[in-house]
Amino acid sequence: MIIDINSLPPNDQYKLLIGTIVPRPIALITTYSEVSGDNAAPFSLFNVMGEDPPVLVVSLESRKTDHSLKDTTLNIMENGQFVAHTVDENLSQAMNICAADFPPTISEAGVAGLTLVPAKVVKAKLIQEAPVAFECEKIAFIQINPHRNILLAKVLMMHVRDNIIDPTNWRVNKENYHPIGRLFGPSYTRTNDTFDMTIPKY
Ligand SMILES: Cc1cc2nc3c(=O)[nH]c(=O)nc-3n(C[C@H](O)[C@H](O)[C@H](O)COP(=O)(O)O)c2cc1C
Repeated sequence: MIIDINSLPPNDQYKLLIGTIVPRPIALITTYSEVSGDNAAPFSLFNVMGEDPPVLVVSLESRKTDHSLKDTTLNIMENGQFVAHTVDENLSQAMNICAADFPPTISEAGVAGLTLVPAKVVKAKLIQEAPVAFECEKIAFIQINPHRNILLAKVLMMHVRDNIIDPTNWRVNKENYHPIGRLFGPSYTRTNDTFDMTIPKY
């Protein structure tokens, strides 16, 4: 089957892309606004883009209902700061609650039973229960259509739960780190069924 994806309506393009590019990592992003306070929401159009400086990317869509900007987008436009947390199995139910479209003045983290603690350098709070957190500042928003902004951001500070990373070599201990991945619709995947391959020498 060949699909001329650009000839399809945006919603079908979206379905094809997010259904085939799987699994995707999930960032549970906290932001802060002087007006509406703390906010938390998950984003799976998220990834690392490189180091020196350490750069992350997040794709922020407008609300499907009225095309208004999501609270996360508005808050990052307000002060350029956020914290991206990875999501493990223990955090998955709370992450899902944070995806509901709460009014801006309600703290999703509070509703989801998560503990917010001050970050080191940004105004957005850290989620204490998260295995890994990246304090970030905006580099740029790139608007790719009227309803989607791609955010490039620099990581300023990293927080990692004890036992996940060996500080002598910065390697991750995969026995102690179980992030989940987003598939499509309501489906997710675990990361504990792994296998190893060594690249052959040419
Ligand atoms: C696992 C998961 C991944 C999501 N990924 C994205 C995403 O990449 N971009 C996006 O705009 N919305 C995404 N959403 C939807 C937002 O989390 C949702 O619209 C949320 O209500 C936004 O909250 P806010 O208005 O507080 O920012 C995702 C939802 C879930 C459950």
